[in-house]
Amino acid sequence: MLAEKLNNTPVVPLVQADDPEVALKTVAALQAGGLDIIEVVLRTDAALSCLEAIAKEASGAIVGAGTVLSESQAKEAVKHGAKFIVSPGLNDDVVKFCQAHKLEVFPGVVTPSEVQRAWNLGLRTVKFFPAGLSGGAPMLKALSSVFRGMKFMPTGGVSTDNLKDFLAIPSVIACGGSWLTPAKEIEAGNFGAVTELASEAVKLAAEVRK
Ligand code: 3PG
Repeated sequence: MLAEKLNNTPVVPLVQADDPEVALKTVAALQAGGLDIIEVVLRTDAALSCLEAIAKEASGAIVGAGTVLSESQAKEAVKHGAKFIVSPGLNDDVVKFCQAHKLEVFPGVVTPSEVQRAWNLGLRTVKFFPAGLSGGAPMLKALSSVFRGMKFMPTGGVSTDNLKDFLAIPSVIACGGSWLTPAKEIEAGNFGAVTELASEAVKLAAEVRK
């Protein structure tokens, strides 16, 4: 279901919010622009409440938790409605918890050894993070040529400028990022800007993934 949705719209916006109401407005704006798969990063005290509000109230959205660093955080995230888990790094406990609960998990990797460790843990999808600083699309192409069958979600430094470069790589399942939810616009209540960024990303993705 998640893979199928990502195939249609391979862009995952990050939501970092202090207030469930703002989180819901942000998600509504993203959905209005065509983005339904949302990653709420666990980087604020209210992140779990924001996650729960989206899981319960944002109809049509599929919400996951990002910046999950431990098994206990993964458990909490699931209790609050997370349908998938994203981590900046590769942690065996988080991966094994998700595998045991049949939850899609995207742990962060950069190096060939990390990709190989993920592969040996049985993973076939990982996050490539931080994508921009770790060699960008050329590095991802090099990794993909060796680890055939591994899918990647580049995140970290992805923007309108390089989205198409990443999405043009066949092993890329989706790109994630915070460029779609700029704090400045959200704080100013300018949710229209979020919808515009989402629509632009959907358009760019469609140009590459015809
Ligand atoms: C993440 O949690 O994946 C990163 O913060 C995303 O990086 P970005 O802010 O550069 O999109």
